[in-house]
Amino acid sequence: MDMQISSPNAVFHAVLAGLSEADRAVVDAVAEPAAMLATQAAAHWDFSLPAARVDEALGAKASDDARRGLIATWALSTVDRAAAAAMPDAVMSLYPFWLEKLASFLSQASGPYDADFWAKDVRFALALSVPGARSQVIDLSSPMGPGQVVRHVLGGWGFTPVLGYLKAGGRGTWLEVHTESRHLDDFNEEGWNRAWATAAEICRTRPDLMGMIGSSWFYDPPLTEISPRLAHLRLNPLNGGAFMVHQGPGEIHTQRAATASPTRKALIDSGQYTARSWLMVWPRKALIAWADARR
Ligand SMILES: CC(C)(COP(=O)(O)OP(=O)(O)OC[C@H]1O[C@@H](n2cnc3c(N)ncnc32)[C@H](O)[C@@H]1OP(=O)(O)O)[C@@H](O)C(=O)NCCC(=O)NCCS
Repeated sequence: MDMQISSPNAVFHAVLAGLSEADRAVVDAVAEPAAMLATQAAAHWDFSLPAARVDEALGAKASDDARRGLIATWALSTVDRAAAAAMPDAVMSLYPFWLEKLASFLSQASGPYDADFWAKDVRFALALSVPGARSQVIDLSSPMGPGQVVRHVLGGWGFTPVLGYLKAGGRGTWLEVHTESRHLDDFNEEGWNRAWATAAEICRTRPDLMGMIGSSWFYDPPLTEISPRLAHLRLNPLNGGAFMVHQGPGEIHTQRAATASPTRKALIDSGQYTARSWLMVWPRKALIAWADARR
């Protein structure tokens, strides 16, 4: 299949045409009910719950080709779903890039569907997560209860988030950003600024949203010294009115922090550094003011 001349939609149709009769029947049968179940699960804190609901609808015997077929089916109407959700131009203009990447992934994939990619693709194809920049997706409905702020205080990390959380309006629906490891074109300061700006545009169109959150090891304060190239990830939001909530260490954070950087890996292995995850919380008023100031 020549990706240079095939439009994403032509590739999605080709993925469907390549399915066995049995897989095609499964895809056609579950596409609608599974989309509904995934959508109902989207507001849960568990990012992968929509994909788990789709797996339940598919049944234990479903093949990975059927999963790819389901994503291809939904991808044919992803743009319509995003338009129906009144997504701003900042989001809509990113779809050609993202759909081309998704088409390329689906047409070249075989074997097991990586669990993280599957969770991301279910959300993306159903427009439960939308593009924020070329390496960032934004979930449209993430919860943020007070528990994490309370644990931050009880852990002795200070009181700053209490005021920030209360000022932001407390419990509610937030946007949440995630990194797409399949295309890291925008994993740099300019790309992240684009993602924050896209989140601000979504907040403008959706007054019900509280702002933007993101959870990662790369917001950890010691990285300003250890990995200065990543310092903008924490400092730009902080300078724009965000606050940070301590989440703590964990195997997944250690593993991710050590993956690409020999410097961080050596510090972790020698016990001089413990990777910690932080929740970046950027309330809507401050986020929109930051975006306005950038224009
Ligand atoms: C998040 C991630 C994509 C960031 O990658 P990055 O922008 O290249 O930044 P890193 O700090 O990780 O850089 C890793 C190495 O690449 C090299 N590098 C990165 N940018 C460079 C540059 N501009 N010039 C020279 N070297 C560079 C360095 O050798 C660095 O190693 P060092 O810290 O020992 O100097 C990468 O760390 C990663 O893939 N992590 C695992 C997945 C992950 O954590 N995803 C986010 C989930 S929340």
